[in-house]
Amino acid sequence: MLRAKIIATGSYLPEHIVTNRDLEKIVDTTDDWITERTGIKERRIANDCQAASDLAYEASLSALKKAQLKPKDIDLIIVATISGDMPFPSTACLLQAKLGAKQAAAFDLGAACSGFIYGLHVANGLIRSGMHQRVLVVGTEVLSRFTDWDDRSTCILFGDGAGAAILEATREKRGIMSTHIYSDGNLADLIMLPGGGSRSCCSRESILKKLHHIKMKGNETFKVAVRTLEELASTTLEVNSIDPSQLSLLIPHQANLRIIQATARRLGLPMEKVFLNIEKYGNTSAASVPIALDEAAESCRLNDGDYVLLEAFGGGLTWASALLRW
Ligand code: ACO
Repeated sequence: MLRAKIIATGSYLPEHIVTNRDLEKIVDTTDDWITERTGIKERRIANDCQAASDLAYEASLSALKKAQLKPKDIDLIIVATISGDMPFPSTACLLQAKLGAKQAAAFDLGAACSGFIYGLHVANGLIRSGMHQRVLVVGTEVLSRFTDWDDRSTCILFGDGAGAAILEATREKRGIMSTHIYSDGNLADLIMLPGGGSRSCCSRESILKKLHHIKMKGNETFKVAVRTLEELASTTLEVNSIDPSQLSLLIPHQANLRIIQATARRLGLPMEKVFLNIEKYGNTSAASVPIALDEAAESCRLNDGDYVLLEAFGGGLTWASALLRW
């Protein structure tokens, strides 16, 4: 049976660090409040010259190097982002040009924080069907450009970064065991960036109304996330006839430490089996899971044969999971 397997990962984080103490100087907040409510201590912010494709390029180069592949070996590029360089061309096409990946088709995928796992879902299907052989899936975000730096309820949450994975076909009994994607557009108003599209394109009024910034009903989102992620994790394990005790690592979207802890508690999973980097990077949306996956691989937290569960939740609403056998 043909499966898709992740053969290499990469990530890139901008150098500039903004700590909670730095944020205390620009909005009415405290390091204690942010740490207690979110688990975040600091986040990375891209420099003025860096857009989403630049971060994606660095993460992709790192993955290609680890895989010992050339850009021409990739036949499809999927970029998950909600903060692409521009409405069009796609960030995936801009990345393709930067890499010189001439053999690849390229497109963007928008599923907010769930985007990378949505990307794995698509790549997995295309590889299993034989339509593509080697796919680069990237999650990249520069959300700092869309953050309202006067809104203390959102500006403390987000950070910039990119993560990448290269998938190829395998006949081994490992790789991507299953992927699961869901959405509920009825809850679209919980997290959105209302301006800049065909409903409210850029105008003096849209700028005055701050429509080009992220709006989030944080508390309501939090409750839906806790309920949904637990159900998602249980379903994914059930479909694969895996008991939570057989899981080696849960790699969750890093949005809020309390959401992650609640999911682990409901699964009966000790926190030692949960990968965390939220403290350093905050919520990097579509980049969150691939950055964490790359750091887990680099820190030898993934061993051959391990069952690894990826899960994410975000705007749309969307939610998604993938069970990997490493
Ligand atoms: N510093 C100090 N006080 C604050 C801050 C802050 N930075 N932000 C909000 N507060 C205040 C509020 O004004 C409120 O005060 P009040 O009680 O006087 O009205 C109080 O703190 C509590 O606010 P809540 O919003 O109820 O706080 P909550 O415990 O829910 O934490 C948070 C807020 C961190 C945003 C949380 O709700 C959360 O993480 N939600 C989920 C986010 C998420 O998962 N998003 C999905 C992905 S994002 C994407 O897709 C792009």
